[in-house]
This record gives sequence, structure tokens and C-alpha cells, in this order.
Amino acid sequence: MSTKLSININKIALLRNSRGNNVPDILKFAMDCEAFGADGITVHPRPDERHIKYNDLHELKRIVQTELNIEGYPDEKFLQMIEEVKPHQCTLVPDAPDALTSDNGWDTIAHEHQLTEVVGRIQKQGVRVSLFINPENKYLDAAKKINTERIEFYTGPYAHLYQTDKERLVLPFEQAAKHCMIIGLGVNAGHDLNLENLAFFKQKLPNLLEVSIGHAFVRDCLYYGLENVVSMYKRLLK
Ligand code: PXP
Repeated sequence: MSTKLSININKIALLRNSRGNNVPDILKFAMDCEAFGADGITVHPRPDERHIKYNDLHELKRIVQTELNIEGYPDEKFLQMIEEVKPHQCTLVPDAPDALTSDNGWDTIAHEHQLTEVVGRIQKQGVRVSLFINPENKYLDAAKKINTERIEFYTGPYAHLYQTDKERLVLPFEQAAKHCMIIGLGVNAGHDLNLENLAFFKQKLPNLLEVSIGHAFVRDCLYYGLENVVSMYKRLLK
């Protein structure tokens, strides 16, 4: 089974925002990603709108032909935006408003009540929900109870020490992915995945449906160019 590549374009928006004009054009970038073979576009609007802005989201939904995935913490403003934009997928993260980047999964046991309500509200709009999560069975079982369709594994701990300890670090993800297959949860993954650590991760998780990749993807574009980089990642996900 091939895994879908969703490209996180936050860093392209960050570059655009640094000049106050529309260069680079994030809509064109998203369309080019798709034209070169990407299976989806991911954005993560943060409360300070330092990269993707809430205003970008309607236009993105209009032009994305594959799948638009919007990530974020489910406060009221975010939930109202999801109801208006209706992306194909919404990935909920437990980030504090001032978080530099997502660095932990949900405690789906402690937040079961809040998440059950929020997930139901989003699903009512026909939007698929994914919960950002660490690879532990107790959190997966609670996620299943909350009725999310998918989870996204937080892959930072695997990626950060891939060079020294990949066999040991991939194990919890491998076991958790098997558990997802048994209980009926779709598996996505993301954070710090790159051209070096992605193939091994994919090989260990045969039921991996989608990865979202941003930071390393943009770094690679600087060296190899967008069209090449999409192909390089796609090859690893076959
Ligand atoms: N998944 C989530 C929930 C994220 O917050 C991010 C970063 O915005 C990613 C995936 C992608 O991580 P990276 O930019 O390291 O590829």
C-alpha cells in the first residue's frame, strides 16, 4: 500500500509574511505541489498567524484538488473556521497557543469529554478527524472511544534520535500501528520526518495511510527544487 504525502506549507507562508506582499504565492505553491504529485496539502494556523493566516484558508480549500488537512488546537475560533472552510481532514493538536511547534500528543484519557464533543462537532460538517497522539495503546483505545477516524503519530522522538537508535525508537510506533489495525483506527504520522528517516518508518508500519511533512521538505527544496523533492518523497512512500 502506498502512503499519501501531504505537504505542510506553513514555512512557505512564513517566507511570504516576512515581506508583507504575496511572494511566494502559497496558492501557486500548493497547486504546484499537487501538479508534481503530492497527495495533499497541510496547514497549521497558529493563534498569532505567523505563517498561515485564517484568511488563506478559504482560498486554499477552493484550489486544493487533492486533500486539504488543517491542523490546530480546537478553541472556538478554530472550530468555527473548520465549520466554514470544511477541509477534507482536521488534525487536532493539544498545543498551547504560544507553542513553537507541536511537541506532544493528546492525553485522550484526561481530555475524553472535551474531545468527544469537539470530534462530533467537526464530523457533523463531513470533515474527517485525526488526533495527534503518542504511540501508546491506552491513548489509542481512548481515541477509538472518542470516535475519531484517524490518529496522527507524533514522530519527533523517533526522528530526533534516528541516527543512533532507530530500531528501538520505531518499535512503539510499530506496535501501536498494529493495535490501530486491530481496533480500527486509520494511521497518519508526522513531525521531523525527512528523506533519511522516512523509508525505515514506512517499512515498519505497513498500514501507514498518510504523512505530513513540512520543515525538512522546504530545506530539501532549497537544494533540489520542488518537483524533484516531491518525487523523492513519493518514491520513499511507495
Ligand atoms: N504534524 C503536526 C501536528 C505538526 O504540527 C507539524 C508541524 O507543523 C507536522 C506534522 C509537520 O512537521 P515537520 O514540519 O517537522 O515536517
